[in-house]
Amino acid sequence: MRKKFIAGNWKMNTTLDEAVALAKDVVKTMGDTSDVDIAICPPYTSLYAVSEVLKGSTVKLGAQDVHWEAKGAFTGKVSCAMLKSVGVTYVIIGHSEQRTYFHETNETVNKKVKATLAAGLLPIICVGETLEERKSGKMDAVIESHTVGAFAGISAEDALKCTIAYEPVWAIGTGETATPQQANEAHIYIRKLLTKLYGTSTAEQIRIQYGGSMKADNAKALLGQSDVDGGLIGGASLKASDFAGIVKPV
Ligand code: 13P
Repeated sequence: MRKKFIAGNWKMNTTLDEAVALAKDVVKTMGDTSDVDIAICPPYTSLYAVSEVLKGSTVKLGAQDVHWEAKGAFTGKVSCAMLKSVGVTYVIIGHSEQRTYFHETNETVNKKVKATLAAGLLPIICVGETLEERKSGKMDAVIESHTVGAFAGISAEDALKCTIAYEPVWAIGTGETATPQQANEAHIYIRKLLTKLYGTSTAEQIRIQYGGSMKADNAKALLGQSDVDGGLIGGASLKASDFAGIVKPV
């Protein structure tokens, strides 16, 4: 049985004070939850302060990206060791916003996944199609290239440390959610791909989150599907009560 995993991706929101206040609210409402894994992913600038707030709670800290190189002349980038040093556990990799706006490719995703695992951090790997790709029948091919690309050269043992987030791009920040059936179909397809790569036993253990306008009022139906093992939450993770509304019905 896969334990549900709900993560909040705060994206480029919250100043330091706002992040600390939001993290405190999350801890107050969900800080001793043990039947669901919870993580919050603030911007880099607030990671250390939020890690201090999360101490002693069950809520884990995630970062929204990482660079694959260990150190050096990479202006603007942040390494795995830097993330570890401020208490990070999870790293979101390959978010569609990174793919769309910042030249993220399957190759850079793979490099980041490898670096993250080598550092002892846990990747949350985002995959998902655009509306155009879905409409033109390319959805399966896109999801396959994202998934196979991300896991190239990753052992089964390391694959077990990864979470996949299925985020259909057309559902992100649009208020339009995949139906529970649409989400589950995609998750089942991703698990088939994982089965081809790693066999049934490994594929059955890897958690697949859904992301894209997940909120308290649609979470229960989505999370009730056979292969939806959690959520990667954007907008609704920016208020603790909204976020709790997703975590609580699990
Ligand atoms: P929304 O929940 O705001 O649609 O964002 C989803 C997302 O992109 C999480 O990574």
